[in-house]
Amino acid sequence: MSSDKDSAKRSDFVARYGPWALVAGASEGLGAEFARQLAARGLNVLLVARRAQPLEVLATELRHQHRIEARTAVVDLADRELPTQLTAVVGDLEIGLLVYNAAHSLVGPFLDQELGGLLRTIDVNCRGPVVLSHLLGQKMAQRRRGGIVLMSSMAATQGAPLVATYAATKAFDLILAEGLWEELGRVGVDVVACRAGATRTPAYERSQPQGSAGKGILGEPGPVVTAALQALGRHPSVVPGWVNRFAAGFLGRLLPRRTAVQIMAKATRSMYER
Ligand SMILES: NC(=O)c1ccc[n+]([C@@H]2O[C@H](COP(=O)([O-])OP(=O)(O)OC[C@H]3O[C@@H](n4cnc5c(N)ncnc54)[C@H](OP(=O)(O)O)[C@@H]3O)[C@@H](O)[C@H]2O)c1
Repeated sequence: MSSDKDSAKRSDFVARYGPWALVAGASEGLGAEFARQLAARGLNVLLVARRAQPLEVLATELRHQHRIEARTAVVDLADRELPTQLTAVVGDLEIGLLVYNAAHSLVGPFLDQELGGLLRTIDVNCRGPVVLSHLLGQKMAQRRRGGIVLMSSMAATQGAPLVATYAATKAFDLILAEGLWEELGRVGVDVVACRAGATRTPAYERSQPQGSAGKGILGEPGPVVTAALQALGRHPSVVPGWVNRFAAGFLGRLLPRRTAVQIMAKATRSMYER
């Protein structure tokens, strides 16, 4: 009985968001987890990132485990020619779900960063989501069905030193998704921003100072992705995990902004300053 229910749920999901999902930034961490959960729900997946090898390994795993189609495309999401490249990569695949997961994130004092790196952060984290949501959203709107998941962050709640540009791009993603939730919702396309807290991924672990195991509570990719997919079609944004929801409510709504920034500053400095 429950397996009948599961397969009905799976076909509802495919009818709403299938037959293909494009996951941008799928080679590891949260993006790979999105690909796994979407394949388990019966979607074919187009996996996009810069490194071909981990994409191929994941595509092979998903084809065998879920009997879906999986393709890969090597694309730098910061590329100036992204709209043309994306159009070529997608071809005539019917993409019913976009997950824009990739991010570029630099940690360190703003003035010590190379300007090129800061601008790349804006390209990958802001320009990329606009390009992909626009190109794929147009086709979804014509079909009057589809979904878009944009990865934001708890860092979007207020500014923070040492990650000022990254945090600002994540605020952009949150506000973009909320606006599109209302606008595209009217033409049958569901949009959600996922404001993840610190999550155990290879990128997160690489960002920690050497010898540090990271401070505070770390989430796991599985529950974060499940929460994002459950919120799709229900809410404009989601904060996975009750500790993060409490922190987001406290920092974002209860405290004066100045105090919220100071608390976040203490946290980022204790995490990243030696
Ligand atoms: N992990 C956390 O603690 C945390 C917390 C809050 C929010 N988030 C958000 O969750 C998302 C995923 O985070 P993550 O920790 O899994 O790792 P991430 O470093 O943000 O993203 C990793 C994925 O993005 C791809 N990628 C990065 N730059 C790219 C580019 N220029 N072109 C194409 N692909 C690119 C990487 O593949 P290649 O290297 O192969 O290109 C990899 O597949 C991000 O949007 C992040 O802001 C993460």
